[in-house]
Amino acid sequence: INQRLISTTEAPAAAAAAVESAATGSSSFHKAPRVIHQNKDSEKPTVAILGSGWGAISFLKHIDSTKYNVILISPRNYFLFTPLLPSCPVGTVDEKSIMEPVVSFANKKTGDVTYYEAEATDINPTEKTVTIKSFSNINTISPNSVNVGLKANEVAQIKYDYLVSAVGAEPNTFGIPGVEEHGCFLKEIPDSKKIRNKFIEAVEKANLLPKGDPERKRLLTLVVVGGGPTGVETAGELQDYIDQDLKTFMPNIVDEIQIILIEALPVVLNMFETKLTSYAEKVLRETNIDLKTKTAVGKVESEYLIAKTKKDDGSVEETKIPYGVLVWATGNKPRSLITNLFKKIPEQNSANRGLIVDETLLVNGTNSIFAIGDNAFAKLPPTAQVAHQEAEYLAKVFSKISRIPNFHENLKISSTPQALFKENGVKPFEYVHLGALAYLGAEKAIANITYGKRSFYSGGGIFTFFVWRVLYLSMILSFRSRFKVIADWTKIAFFGRDAFKEL
Ligand code: FAD
Ligand code: NAI
Repeated sequence: INQRLISTTEAPAAAAAAVESAATGSSSFHKAPRVIHQNKDSEKPTVAILGSGWGAISFLKHIDSTKYNVILISPRNYFLFTPLLPSCPVGTVDEKSIMEPVVSFANKKTGDVTYYEAEATDINPTEKTVTIKSFSNINTISPNSVNVGLKANEVAQIKYDYLVSAVGAEPNTFGIPGVEEHGCFLKEIPDSKKIRNKFIEAVEKANLLPKGDPERKRLLTLVVVGGGPTGVETAGELQDYIDQDLKTFMPNIVDEIQIILIEALPVVLNMFETKLTSYAEKVLRETNIDLKTKTAVGKVESEYLIAKTKKDDGSVEETKIPYGVLVWATGNKPRSLITNLFKKIPEQNSANRGLIVDETLLVNGTNSIFAIGDNAFAKLPPTAQVAHQEAEYLAKVFSKISRIPNFHENLKISSTPQALFKENGVKPFEYVHLGALAYLGAEKAIANITYGKRSFYSGGGIFTFFVWRVLYLSMILSFRSRFKVIADWTKIAFFGRDAFKEL
């Protein structure tokens, strides 16, 4: 594939000519016009941000875009407030309430911000380019940028001075056969819709079968694998839907629906202290969730899975569990874009969980790539809280270095970038842990609220559920989204949940 590459620091005339050539398709050796992106203001360094999640959008919100040409590249044209995603499959919160268009954030910026609705398919750290594949016609956000629209599936290269990689991670199946084909993940909005449709379809099909039929029992068994917060919250929300809403629509069937939550470790939610995990397990069992700890799923077929339970006497028992719907929530692994980058940078060859970053979040072995959020390995948990704090910190670093004379030039040629940051007074990133919260179902939650090592609150129950709600509202990045979530919660208090199968 021939690709035109336009440097944002090229002479404006040359760039303009290239733009024209691309637009008209007049290149002598390209059949299809190549893709061009060129900001008019070529004095400023170009920062390419990959992603539109917690890391990327928090960075976009805080970066001084009058000092940089900002290009945001993400196939997902909205920010997703993931903490409330487990509430979506059953309609406690509407999917659209936790989606905020990238454009809403970008429009608030002054300076040059361009958004490409595209996937980054390759990063070349030597040439400082990102190859992108367009998902649709490109949105131009900044009136000050020259932007030749890309058609869907077109490929282009973007030249950057700095790259901020925040592409997150993807669900990990640990290579267990059958998971990809038969399981549902819960990472993105389409996953939520898939779980809803599969669940409602299974209940409808079961309803046509006579009571006592093993196929009816299978269809009404919903298995959630992974007792981390995603698995626990999803199981809790599904049980709420069964107990609070399905009961009125289909009273003849609800008592037969069984949720099984499977966790390989001896406890669920192992990031919380024992007092809270014990409470969580008690609530889950009281709400009729069949909790199986010390049980690892090793194989998945279309209608059943095989799990192995470690018994107290050390023996292992193998069980065949038929299921109607399978939700797979066993954590994440790096995306192929990132694992490919591991191979291109010698200092990253040993990386496996994410790009290894230094204390300024610069990717080891590079002078121009920063990584934040789940695609970075900074010895911190892969949470929104970490991604958000890293992004805020990095935006401050970018502001600071923009004021230091010749810093950009010096960084380009420096063999000891860490020392250069230090000499110029750039402080290392320090994470402040603000605690953890998890919803359990039946309007009960657990929370451990801290500021660094100081603990302010640790508890579980209905009061904590309201604390959970208030804190999650405060974490939402836009007023519009916050308003919609409050409206959703108010609506279900009066009218119950909307959880319709979508056609
Ligand atoms: P993400 O937010 O996942 O964003 C990645 C972005 O990169 C997305 O926009 C994606 O479309 C884009 N992208 C992917 N591939 C490419 C590519 N090739 N090119 C360009 N862009 C790409 N954390 C908490 O702290 N508290 C919580 O309550 C909480 N709840 C959660 C609930 C669920 C259901 C899930 C799944 C996670 C939850 N997390 C929570 C974890 C939190 O969501 C992640 O740690 C956080 O999203 C990481 O931010 P990120 O920017 O690294 O990645
Ligand atoms: P996780 O990695 O936290 O938990 C996955 C669980 O699956 C682990 O407990 C693991 O032991 C178990 N597991 C793995 N393989 C298994 C198998 N084959 N059989 C049975 N069990 C198996 O993943 P999760 O929950 O998706 O969370 C990912 C990240 O997002 C975490 O950092 C988490 O803290 C964060 N998050 C935070 C939330 C919150 O604060 N409320 C909500 C959701 C996610």
